[in-house]
Amino acid sequence: MISPLKIAVAGLGTVGGGVVKALTARRLDLTERAGRELDIVAVSARDANKARGFAHTNWTADPLALVKTDADVIVELIGGDEGIARQLVEAALESGKHVVTANKALLAKHGKALAVKAEKNNLQLKFEAAVAGGIPIVKALRESLISHGIHSVKGILNGTCNYILTEMEASGRSFAAVLKEAQAKGYAEADPTLDVGGGDTAHKLALLSTLAFGIAPDLGAMRVVGIEQITPADIHFASEFGFRIKLLGVSRRSHDAGQGWVIEQVVHPAMVRARSPLANVDGAANGVVVDAGEAGPYFFSGRGAGEAPTASAVVSDLVEIAQGSFTQVFGRPAARLAKLNAAGAGATQSAWYLRFEVLDAPGVLAEIAGQLSQTGVSIESMIQRGRAPSESVTIVMITHETAGAAVERALKAIAASDKVRARPCMIPMEAA
Ligand SMILES: NC(=O)c1ccc[n+]([C@@H]2O[C@H](COP(=O)([O-])OP(=O)(O)OC[C@H]3O[C@@H](n4cnc5c(N)ncnc54)[C@H](OP(=O)(O)O)[C@@H]3O)[C@@H](O)[C@H]2O)c1
Repeated sequence: MISPLKIAVAGLGTVGGGVVKALTARRLDLTERAGRELDIVAVSARDANKARGFAHTNWTADPLALVKTDADVIVELIGGDEGIARQLVEAALESGKHVVTANKALLAKHGKALAVKAEKNNLQLKFEAAVAGGIPIVKALRESLISHGIHSVKGILNGTCNYILTEMEASGRSFAAVLKEAQAKGYAEADPTLDVGGGDTAHKLALLSTLAFGIAPDLGAMRVVGIEQITPADIHFASEFGFRIKLLGVSRRSHDAGQGWVIEQVVHPAMVRARSPLANVDGAANGVVVDAGEAGPYFFSGRGAGEAPTASAVVSDLVEIAQGSFTQVFGRPAARLAKLNAAGAGATQSAWYLRFEVLDAPGVLAEIAGQLSQTGVSIESMIQRGRAPSESVTIVMITHETAGAAVERALKAIAASDKVRARPCMIPMEAA
């Protein structure tokens, strides 16, 4: 048997701890699959005295010291798009060491430069755990669904948001109440902004776009809307229309008469048909639908975060490296990843759910309808739910299919009216 693959693990938290435990507990089976032993030769974390539930040797507080060991692979599981994580990955690739990481924030920001560095040095940079936890979506887009081109990728990529929306639907409680409970149970971070604001989904979507379309990861032109404004009323109305609300990351390729092929990347709460696969991804799970053109649509679902699913993805990357298989980081030469030709802002074509909180006064409905019609938005159906006189009423409308930009223009004018009591809400209704 060939010599062991020597591994150094930086970060021994949720993911790093899971990786060490899996490599230890499943040593024999993994050796058979890899064709060689997988040996952890050094580890790094901040606190040497923290109880971690597993034994570790050759510990250092300085992750960069791992680069000076005889490890073949550095596993970066610290996190963060700059600082020590970036320094470590760069230093490893400059020192001739392969890298496995779960760090979507780092790759969304510096993915092209790091991939170029890896490929220039004939090294592997693998990141299956960075998107959708244990679901093998990176490998599927990088190596499997490549024959007919990808039309779109849509995913529920953040378990915290999906958990909150699922709980809001089940209990009728507000976003704030469910978030508070999720934080108390440890399902949401103390600072949940990156999750609920859509930023984490954006990082993952940028990587899926790169794999699907061969563009460099680009967060700049991505429209990102989180779930903070979703109310129990929206969820209730969605259900009346036969839909459920999910936070989706959507990356879609389309042909624009003026610009040629353009890619639209957007993260937003969307209504998905109640019987569609994505609508039935519940709780903290993740799901991804890939439209692979003539090769058909594919649906992946499973656990998108947590110790075991994420460790599973890291270990599969390590086994591939041990086997000696060489894959380009994003499935194409990194140096040739193209600059994003982004679809214009507000390009999303869809039917839209609109909700207005307005004063119960004469003429309000006519004012809203007038503004919508001025920007060419036509209404398919409408529901008005009143309360006691002098209180606000909720007006919900479904539009015919139209560009988001036209709806946004109308909503801006409507929001300026003194009869409108809260910022109007617009949610796209996904066709599938
Ligand atoms: N958690 C998930 O389910 C999940 C899923 C997918 C991807 N990821 C990604 O995986 C990565 C790790 O996430 P995690 O949840 O495992 O984080 P975590 O539990 O917070 O663990 C981070 C680890 O990094 C160590 N660390 C932090 N700063 C350090 C420094 N300056 N020097 C040395 N060690 C340092 C910490 O040391 P101490 O233990 O001593 O504090 C800890 O062991 C992140 O990029 C994250 O986005 C996580």
